[in-house]
Amino acid sequence: METEVLDKERTLKLLMEQGILLSPKLVERLSDKEFVKQLVAYSKQSAMPLVVDEEVLTNIESGTAAQPQLEASKPLGQCNVEILKCHNEASTNRDVHDFVGFFNARYRVLSSMISNRPGITRNVSISRLRNKTDRESVSIIGLVSEMNFTKNNNLRLTLEDPTGSIQVVVTKNNKDLYKEALTLTLDEVIGVTGMSGKNVVFASEIIWPEVPVLPLKKSPLKEYAIVLSDLHVGSNLFLEKEFTRFIKWIRGEIGSQKQHEIAKRTKYIFIVGDLVDGVGVYPEQYNELAVRDIYEQYKLCAQFISRIPKEKAVIICPGNHDALRLAEPQPPLSPELARPLYEIPNVIMVSNPAIVNIGKAGSFPGFNVLMYHGYGFDYYVANVDPIRNGGGYERPELIMSYLLKRRHLAPTHGSTLYVPYKTIDPLLIDEVPDIFVSGHIHKSAIKNYRNITLVSGSCWQAKTSFQEKVGHEPEPCRVPIIDLHTRRMKILKFGG
Ligand SMILES: [Fe+2]
Repeated sequence: METEVLDKERTLKLLMEQGILLSPKLVERLSDKEFVKQLVAYSKQSAMPLVVDEEVLTNIESGTAAQPQLEASKPLGQCNVEILKCHNEASTNRDVHDFVGFFNARYRVLSSMISNRPGITRNVSISRLRNKTDRESVSIIGLVSEMNFTKNNNLRLTLEDPTGSIQVVVTKNNKDLYKEALTLTLDEVIGVTGMSGKNVVFASEIIWPEVPVLPLKKSPLKEYAIVLSDLHVGSNLFLEKEFTRFIKWIRGEIGSQKQHEIAKRTKYIFIVGDLVDGVGVYPEQYNELAVRDIYEQYKLCAQFISRIPKEKAVIICPGNHDALRLAEPQPPLSPELARPLYEIPNVIMVSNPAIVNIGKAGSFPGFNVLMYHGYGFDYYVANVDPIRNGGGYERPELIMSYLLKRRHLAPTHGSTLYVPYKTIDPLLIDEVPDIFVSGHIHKSAIKNYRNITLVSGSCWQAKTSFQEKVGHEPEPCRVPIIDLHTRRMKILKFGG
């Protein structure tokens, strides 16, 4: 009996690792090998997590179960969507060694990027500089583990690499460099070139991993992509009338002839998190909810999304208000809670963050789109002077370009919650996207940054009491739109 229980637990864990979630009643059947084989065979047809309850099982056993719709590559009529990176790994216990592996993985990737950048000459490991007394020009690459000021107001950093740590001083007399250095954030990886002294390097240049400027890709097809985020369905501040107006527009029911044409040619709709307001996300949220049941919130949300014409791909990642773990990468929305959305054939679910390719056509390779909700953005608005003083929440594009320069979606430990994977850092921006879409700030923005299209979605929720308290003005009911043929962008307004 004991062996059987142990086997069941092990099998359950293995199934979860493969993205198969069982309803509690079916767990009892886990000692039946045939049953397990059948589940695994069925789940192999899907790249996404699968929830199996008694109804789904009956359909699988009778051979009437629908093919899982969510495949890694999903051509939808004329749309072409391929999921390039989606994190589906099941949650597991983590310990301190995982954090060591995680930061080493980050260092490995970023240091190899930086070591190829101009400005890095005579790159040495930090341990080789220790106790060195002769002055010579050196380059080091390290993670910023401390930042403070000397009594003369020079900036003092501690840089760490896998061999050790060393202090780096940026003197205030070097005005341009000092200004640049004040934009640093803890735990980012940088290169420093300077003059070595005794257990110190006096910096003359800082080198960031930064994104290279690649040629601006343009689609041969006259297609558009649009970005929505932060619907907050279920909140008593959800702007239902305005969202309905958007749905009517995308269906071609309202708008000028030119707008009809844009709606018709819109093939890709990104929804970058916070589809619903959630339940229990913050204290006293209960009083601000029009719909207090999470299942009902997703059901209502799906009623809107299902009215988007089926030939358009709707690509959805979760946000911090959605009903799943906060630690990033967040897996795709729960197939159990958000089932009505999974039942919409043109919906594609991905993790947060995720990378999808859209618009591949013939020899045209399509656009790689990085999707990230942006839970950590608040930290950078609050703690990075050039962002705060440059407009803060008014300028989401400043945060996005700041993170691209660091090749990381949330470099500072504590800026977001994250899962410390042992061998990879899933929040690294290791590949250069063509388009970077985000949300969370409730303010729309469009910008070309080094030939990467940056888009922040707006929101469909009126100003909350929290936003009132912190003086943040949201800008709801706006829809950024990207012309994939010209790469021009504009923002359509559905409010008022
Ligand atoms: Fe939100």
